[in-house]
Amino acid sequence: MIQKYTYGAPLRTDAVVHEIPAENGSPAYGTVNTQNSFTFTYRMSADDIVYGLGEANRGINKRGYCYTSDCTDDPNHTEDKRSLYGAHNFIVVWGAQTFGMFFDYPSLITFDIGYTRADTLSVSCESADLDVYVITGDTPYDIVKQFRRMTGRSYIPPKFAFGFGQSRWGYKTKDDFRKVAAGYRENHIPLDMIYMDIDYMDSYKDFTLSSEFSRFPEFVREMKEDHIRLIPIIDAGVKVEDGYSVYDEGVKNDHFCKREDGSFFTAAVWPGDTHFPDFLDPKAREWFGDKYRFLTDQGIEGFWNDMNEPAIFYSREGLAEAKELARRFAQSDGGSWDGQQEEVGVWQMGDKLQSLANSPEDYRRFYHNINGKKVRHDKVHNLYGFNMTRAAAEAFERIDPDRRFLMFSRSSYIGMHRCGGIWTGDNKSWWSHLLLNLKMMPSLNMCGFLYAGADLGGFGADTTRELLLRFLALGVFTPLMRNHAALGTREQECYQFEGIEDFRHVITVRYRLLPYLYSEYMKAALNDDLYFKPLSFVYPEDRMAARIEDQLMLGNEIMIAPVCEQNGKGRYVYLPEEMLFVKFLPDGTVSEEIFGQGVHYVDIALNEVPMFIRKGKCIPLADPAECVDDIRTDHLRIIGYAGTEYVLYDDDGIHKDYENEKNYRTLRN
Ligand code: GLC
Repeated sequence: MIQKYTYGAPLRTDAVVHEIPAENGSPAYGTVNTQNSFTFTYRMSADDIVYGLGEANRGINKRGYCYTSDCTDDPNHTEDKRSLYGAHNFIVVWGAQTFGMFFDYPSLITFDIGYTRADTLSVSCESADLDVYVITGDTPYDIVKQFRRMTGRSYIPPKFAFGFGQSRWGYKTKDDFRKVAAGYRENHIPLDMIYMDIDYMDSYKDFTLSSEFSRFPEFVREMKEDHIRLIPIIDAGVKVEDGYSVYDEGVKNDHFCKREDGSFFTAAVWPGDTHFPDFLDPKAREWFGDKYRFLTDQGIEGFWNDMNEPAIFYSREGLAEAKELARRFAQSDGGSWDGQQEEVGVWQMGDKLQSLANSPEDYRRFYHNINGKKVRHDKVHNLYGFNMTRAAAEAFERIDPDRRFLMFSRSSYIGMHRCGGIWTGDNKSWWSHLLLNLKMMPSLNMCGFLYAGADLGGFGADTTRELLLRFLALGVFTPLMRNHAALGTREQECYQFEGIEDFRHVITVRYRLLPYLYSEYMKAALNDDLYFKPLSFVYPEDRMAARIEDQLMLGNEIMIAPVCEQNGKGRYVYLPEEMLFVKFLPDGTVSEEIFGQGVHYVDIALNEVPMFIRKGKCIPLADPAECVDDIRTDHLRIIGYAGTEYVLYDDDGIHKDYENEKNYRTLRN
């Protein structure tokens, strides 16, 4: 059962697709205070667990910290950070009382989950204008499914998007891309996509190509003949440059966000000064979305949307303030500065320069046009990335309504899960981020984001062979499986390391499992279900299962338990019931061993991929292939418990004929 409570005059976010009439009164759980601001407070019992919040820091059980939904471009995901790139305001409390809550609020909102007081859950935001949905059900799983139904079907990518992708910030020329393609193909490491980061553009201008990419359609074809799709990045900010058609049109037709005085707001991002399209205005969305045609017309089938929090390096105003501070400081010429010591001045200068990026002040400096109403950006900040990706998704419907396009975004709000997937942004080559990657997955799924994954190997900092292999062994199971790294870091394409055969083997396991992973993804998407679940969703009676934070259930048949530690030769696993321990060995064979309920230590070498098949279940396994197009789904082997069946979902991977009964086939072991 879902109940909706409306406070004040909320702004429509379009997170919810199945509207529910608002109730009078207040939620059955906790207390709401709307004096001056909004606060929901609930007294938690000692053993209550809190799930949700999608792309957020720390554990699967969110209890014990404070999180803020405030879409932020922050490449340092250290444990102390409260905000990442997304705003996913859905939580489930499980314990003495079990209920879910969705706070549909487009601006900054804080979830203090036992941080200030260990027993108190407190959700607060500045303005008491929001819709609060309260969901009751028997279990967290049941509550999540109701929430997912209310917010609509998750995005479904084309099948090739379940292949492996290579990315790196810094590929500039056709030959850079050819080198990557050759590095994979010559070493027989499977590959389906190479991502084009900002250097493919002319001066970082959206919907342009640098002079290196003349005769682009031919190049797209050349790659596609090798079964490789090129996936370009699109950034939110449009470069300010007279004569650049996207800029000129945006100015002429009033598609950019404006300052209070009506002038266009200018912020520096990769191209230097940019204007931000007003994605909250349907007309601007339509205009920007149609620009993707520039690339789809040349054969491109997928994109990633970036810098759409929106990220701001500095604004004109911020820079002017910093310059003024510097001028005053310089004038002091070593003497006292504004009556203070020189070193204090140095710190102030440092602070000012550091706070130029993504400053809350800048988010108060520009406005959107929402149905003719001028709305200050900070009031709707968390909707920006969602609406950029929505612009693309709406355009894809016009470009080819029968076709699926690959699309994932950095910033998001609930509702965007219908338009695209997400990647979890600028992680680092740290072991702790491998674990964070795992922990985020079920929470993201709860909020609707099924097509998700992290930068495997780590984006910032230098990776190691061992870390990359372990990252990949988790990535084998995440719908988005992409190796991506930052400019200036160690090269981390799989062929750059010694013992290439280990990389070939681990990624090949992905392709062997792909019919199963795709089938489970599609079933999850089509039934508003989860692809990744915490163990407790499947074993709610098992109190031990609820404590497990480093193993996940995937689909209906398997459990994964990757190694997340340097020099790990294996790990402890908890089995809520008897399961079949499966290891994909480097010689291409599969070892199978039954383990009983309880705790076990299992050996897992660096070149092995482990997983568990649940009791009484089986899964299909394909022959090795080097691209998704070559996977033979008419030739599948079954592994798992004897005498069992698996219902496989499969389709052409391109079109949207999802409801066809022909897509289901029963396989017997
Ligand atoms: C941002 C993105 C990253 C990309 C870089 C350059 O940091 O998160 O993935 O490589 O910008 O475009």
